[in-house]
Amino acid sequence: MTYGTRKDGYPASSKWLHWAVAACVLTTIPVSIAMTWVSGGPLQDTLYNLHKSLGILILLLMILRLINRLMVGAPAPDPTIARWQRAASSAVHGLLYVLLLLMSVTGYLANSAYGAKTPFFGLFELPMIIAKNEPLSEKLFAFHKYTGWLVAVLVVMHIGAALQHHVIHRDNVLRRMLPRALGGI
Ligand code: HEM
Ligand code: HEM
Repeated sequence: MTYGTRKDGYPASSKWLHWAVAACVLTTIPVSIAMTWVSGGPLQDTLYNLHKSLGILILLLMILRLINRLMVGAPAPDPTIARWQRAASSAVHGLLYVLLLLMSVTGYLANSAYGAKTPFFGLFELPMIIAKNEPLSEKLFAFHKYTGWLVAVLVVMHIGAALQHHVIHRDNVLRRMLPRALGGI
């Protein structure tokens, strides 16, 4: 669903949700690498708990974001952008929605199947959503891990494209998503 013209920015709700999810994803991916690198101990536990909490927060924000996107839509793509680029951009955006929802659900499922706790920022613990089943947990974690790398690659492409529009083409693509206080439209 699209609305408006190329001069329209995203609605404030879409901007807030976009930057909140971006902050969580750009934190949780390095945390997921660090937590598997450090040797066991309190630091590793803290990193695992932070990764799980951010993952659950991403799940909640992405559900809100999906509802918001279906309700308010997105501004029409800039007609100066080549048709293949518009198609590539929609495909990456769509994949990010699907993969982030899938990643957080598989992370939660795999963690419960492993028999591990799912804390939420030290505030409370989420219930186990599946009975202990280590072979299933291994399969789900393998899927979670490889999909995580796909998300990381898509995010790098997405940020590269946004910066290319802003710095090289000097068009409104980045400004459509920036808050007005930071020069957004
Ligand atoms: C890691 C985190 C990020 C994720 C998961 C993400 C995801 C998305 C998604 C799904 C959209 C589609 C808008 C919607 O319908 O909701 C979008 C739009 C956009 N994102 Fe991101 N984003 C991330 C980080 C960034 C960063 C760091 C930048 C800037 C450097 C950026 C710039 C943009 C811009 C400019 C748009 C609007 C594109 C257009 O008008 O078609 N994003 N992003
Ligand atoms: C969109 C959200 C998420 C992203 C992008 C993400 C990303 C990743 C990545 C990239 C890895 C692989 C790290 C590595 O082996 O180098 C990983 C591992 C892991 N994730 Fe997530 N994750 C998310 C959500 C969750 C959630 C919600 C949970 C649990 C409630 C979770 C639990 C775990 C655990 C326990 C591991 C380690 C698996 C192992 O040791 O083999 N993740 N995650």
